[in-house]
Amino acid sequence: MLKWIVEELKLPAPPFWLIGALLVLMCLPLVPLAFTARARVSTSEKTAPHIFLDMDKQTKYKAQADSTVFADGRAMRPPVPGTIAWGKNAAAPNADLLAEDDHYFRGYRLEKNATTGEMDTIYFQGFPGRVTVDEALMTRGQRRFNIYCAPCHGLGGLGDGTIYQRSLKIQAGWIQPNNLTDPERVSRPEGHLYNTITNGIRNMSGYGHQVSVEDRWAIVAYLKALQLRQNAPASLVGNVE
Ligand code: HEC
Repeated sequence: MLKWIVEELKLPAPPFWLIGALLVLMCLPLVPLAFTARARVSTSEKTAPHIFLDMDKQTKYKAQADSTVFADGRAMRPPVPGTIAWGKNAAAPNADLLAEDDHYFRGYRLEKNATTGEMDTIYFQGFPGRVTVDEALMTRGQRRFNIYCAPCHGLGGLGDGTIYQRSLKIQAGWIQPNNLTDPERVSRPEGHLYNTITNGIRNMSGYGHQVSVEDRWAIVAYLKALQLRQNAPASLVGNVE
């Protein structure tokens, strides 16, 4: 081809260096592609090149780093005395809003076991002081129970909710929701029931993120009522002969 052009057009043959230079120029654009291809299949400890920095990279202290700026050598500063947790009530910093009341917020407390040195979980018996068990709480508890618990545990808490019934039809071998009125469940302290609602237990997941603290206690109150209903002594029911 080149020979033909040279002969037809009577052009002098291009000098060897020009052909060489043209060949090199043709190959040059492939070099970045080769680097990109290699970078895509290899890993590197270094961060990727950042053309527009956009303040992504700047000098800063990372958590637990040291600093010569402060006398104690720590970059992390302790909170100013009197600081209260975010979202809490500044007007009443010592009120329950710090969730210090274990009985109310957790249903249990941790206590160091003198012999084993481990932390024991001790569930609270009864309702926390700030919860008034009255008809309003019971009604609220019934409504919440029927929404959140009855689908599995059944309206009466007997462990026969529609979800369980349906799951048995689809496939055998499902874990049955407990009968909440059986002797073992009746013997559970209120704090234990509360914690079961908050964090779940064994195969049951927790409902703490959906049910507020007040409502959890309302459900516990209603659970107690369901348990009493199932196990009421004759003296309570009256003369039923
Ligand atoms: C999705 C179904 C489901 C829902 C909804 C559900 N549970 Fe359960 N629950 C279970 C199952 C299943 C078990 C048994 C778990 C096991 O034994 O592994 C259980 C166990 C329990 C127990 C027995 C724990 C113990 O002490 O042994 C209590 C109490 C309980 N649930 C209360 C509740 C309450 C109150 C609600 C409503 C806030 C609720 N559950 C909602 C499925 C459910």
